[in-house]
Amino acid sequence: MYRQTREQPPISVRDPGGTMTDIAALPKVELHVHIEGTLEPGLIFELAARNSLDLPYTSLADLRARYAFDDLQSFLDLYYANMAVLRTAADFAELMLAYLRRAAAGGVRHAEIFFDPQAHLSRGVSLTEVVAGLAEGCRLGDAETGTTSALIACFLRDRSGEEALDVLAQLVAAKAPIIGIGLDSTEVGNPASKFTAVYARAKELGLHRVAHAGEEGGPEYVSDALDLLGVERVDHGVRSVQDPVLVRRLATERIPLTVCPFSNVRLKGVSSLADHALPQLIAAGVMTTINSDDPAYFGGYAEDNYAAVAAQFAFSAAGLAQLARNSVEASFLPPDRKAALDRDIGTWLRLQSP
Ligand code: HPA
Ligand code: ZN
Repeated sequence: MYRQTREQPPISVRDPGGTMTDIAALPKVELHVHIEGTLEPGLIFELAARNSLDLPYTSLADLRARYAFDDLQSFLDLYYANMAVLRTAADFAELMLAYLRRAAAGGVRHAEIFFDPQAHLSRGVSLTEVVAGLAEGCRLGDAETGTTSALIACFLRDRSGEEALDVLAQLVAAKAPIIGIGLDSTEVGNPASKFTAVYARAKELGLHRVAHAGEEGGPEYVSDALDLLGVERVDHGVRSVQDPVLVRRLATERIPLTVCPFSNVRLKGVSSLADHALPQLIAAGVMTTINSDDPAYFGGYAEDNYAAVAAQFAFSAAGLAQLARNSVEASFLPPDRKAALDRDIGTWLRLQSP
């Protein structure tokens, strides 16, 4: 698999036609990243010290040794535990700023970023602290790097639909600057049907609607997200490949999937990148996008995921440009910004040297 460079893009791969492709310079949109999943081990230790919290780890190496996961739940257990270091608005702002700097260095020009309000409320951190910090981090990061960023509040699907409705009401009361809602956490056993009321309310409020589905759950989780929740994009969605009728529907209705290759490998949704459904989905005409999910936990940011699939599946520069164009099309950006990003992707493609 492609060797990841964490600190220093550019990342280049040579495609079968001999083109050198500078993947970190490819303008792209990140549509599936959890801000809490960008919490790097070093920042966990820094924030613990700042907030006078004891960590259950003896060292950075001890923490890093725990980043070997068996499945989604084993990851979620560590992900929620590590959030304990996020206490103040300043902590959330620093986390967001660090992500936007890192993302921009990898060619991300716009990001629609998930956060998990319930995971913080349940620890006694107020919603205003979370939202004020994230919004300030977006403002600082965008001003410094030239990115644009937007927030999507995710509800935890292993908690109740009533609680999700209540949290949405709190977000509205706090005037949280969110563009939409999502659904994440433990999928299997927590069907979309629990959340029809909160998605209906979000629609009334004019919010965008997305949901994780088909990550560990089967294709019926994807169909339910479409039919019961009215989602505009499906996060992951890779298990749709098990149902050819659903795959045809996704292609015909141009429903974007926010695919996260490293996440699927690290959480053992697939045994190796070579077995990933991405090429099948692309061949079937499904609008796929490439994303990082929880980059601090899964070994790479957006451009690392692009580089890995490019190397694994021998994608050409034109193929990568198409994936980036898909990320623009699948975003909730206005048409003029989409057109400008598409032009920048075209410029990038012309610059790739044979
Ligand atoms: N799946 C479900 N819930 C999550 C994930 C994920 O990949 N990352 C953070 N919360
Ligand atoms: Zn996710």
